[in-house]
Amino acid sequence: MNLTLKIWRQKGPQDKGGMVEYKVPDISEHMSFLEMMDVLNEGLIAKGEEPVAFDHDCREGICGTCSLQINGEPHGPDKAITACQLHMRSFKDGDTIYIEPWRAKAFPVIKDLIVDRSAFDRIQQAGGYISVNTSGNTQDANAIPIPKLDADLSMDAATCIGCGACVAACKNSSAMLFVGAKVSQFALLPQGRIEAKDRVLNMVRQMDLEGFGNCTNTGACEVECPKSISLTNIARMNREYLKASI
Ligand code: SF4
Ligand code: FES
Repeated sequence: MNLTLKIWRQKGPQDKGGMVEYKVPDISEHMSFLEMMDVLNEGLIAKGEEPVAFDHDCREGICGTCSLQINGEPHGPDKAITACQLHMRSFKDGDTIYIEPWRAKAFPVIKDLIVDRSAFDRIQQAGGYISVNTSGNTQDANAIPIPKLDADLSMDAATCIGCGACVAACKNSSAMLFVGAKVSQFALLPQGRIEAKDRVLNMVRQMDLEGFGNCTNTGACEVECPKSISLTNIARMNREYLKASI
């Protein structure tokens, strides 16, 4: 395939940035999207030009770093996958592909397609954990009976990889799907109930401090989430928050 790429280039956080056009010839349909980006960068380096900066690590849908807005959709046109799992067979010869970073006030651009998602780390640090006494008398977690449905729902919530696509998809740049998943993962289990009240209050407070918007039930986050995290996690977080507030 011969493709035209229109890519957001931005030298640094203070740079205005803009779209730059590149031609990439001879792209195999079997390549992953990020391999296609590698081909582009090898060509740029060979010409003595600055390669396009983009985030990636695992390249198998686990780490959540490959934050690319592709043709206006977080992680591109295919459903329930990350950008690194997207293959070039999803495009056709002659296509023009627009590639941009996540757009949200709380995710400032560091360079080109890389954004700063440390706001998510700070939300996690505010309560996304359980405190366990490891002094030697710790109860074996397997000795605590947990209903199968609760375990399944908690596991579903725990599959959130913190990629930020939910924020990028939302017209309000809301992080409530992410925070809802992180709160639910613990709220559904007896181990998480002990600190449940402080957890939800602290995580929501930090979410607001970081400048994320509110949820207005549009549902774009659920549609674009690569792990199909359900909106029911936002509803559960709201119930937890209400209970903790009164
Ligand atoms: S809820 Fe989905 S889209 Fe949002 S951070 Fe988690 S995995 Fe990514
Ligand atoms: S590079 Fe890890 S999820 Fe895409």
